[in-house]
Amino acid sequence: MTDPRDRPLLFFDSGVGGLSVLAPARALIPTAPIVYVADSAGYPYGTRSEAEIAARVPALLGRLAERYDPRLIVIACNTASTIALAAVRAALDVGVVGTVPAIKPAAEASVSRVIGVLGTDATVRQPYVDDLAARFAADCTVLRHGSAALVELAEAKLRGEAADLAAYRVVLAGLFGQPGGERIDTIVNACTHFPLVVDELTAAAGQRLRFVDGGPGIGRRVAHLTAGQDWPDVAGEGVAVFTRLDARAEALAPALRGYGLGRIEGL
Ligand code: DGL
Repeated sequence: MTDPRDRPLLFFDSGVGGLSVLAPARALIPTAPIVYVADSAGYPYGTRSEAEIAARVPALLGRLAERYDPRLIVIACNTASTIALAAVRAALDVGVVGTVPAIKPAAEASVSRVIGVLGTDATVRQPYVDDLAARFAADCTVLRHGSAALVELAEAKLRGEAADLAAYRVVLAGLFGQPGGERIDTIVNACTHFPLVVDELTAAAGQRLRFVDGGPGIGRRVAHLTAGQDWPDVAGEGVAVFTRLDARAEALAPALRGYGLGRIEGL
């Protein structure tokens, strides 16, 4: 029988985006055993249909829960959470934390009352986002833009491939080019990949902007939900699991080590 202290936290995303959620959680629970899963065989999620995500994610998380016996699952992906969180919770008997666009803190912080929501194409069209905007940002103009290119820029950065700031400017133009876009003062990074390139986005914007994302709040939520549980005395080596283990995945090894993920394996 395995030591219950070794039961991991399982973070799930289509790719490396979930690392922006893993980092704040690890900062609060530094010796937590970590299994980080990238559904590289299903990547990217943001250009898939609702039906594809709804069919794929609960089934895959079911397999993963059986294999790794996590104490808690974190769906560190806005696309999967806004579409499939309820179905995953209904299907599994382990706690599941989701990721939702940080529209509430953005609305609290915005002075101009114009906020941008940068996510995947699938996320920005979700009724879930309409609902968050109506509940928490009713007095704001909420402009949305979906970008698959920005997801890929974040993946490439973590593989060590540099990109020109011009590529980031094109992404931001999708928000600033909309009517009222020039008044945006706060942008919600509503895809977990995007905080990984927030320095590049800030440099490309060339104006003062506030970027907010859900990562720190989810980190606190994970710490709260596991408060009082026993953890190993020292941090072990975390494992990164890829549903397709190929050269693209292997190229991420140095970046993954920086997040405490020293081992890579295929599912
Ligand atoms: N990181 C994901 C999100 O938060 C999705 C990226 C993708 O696979 O398109 O939405």
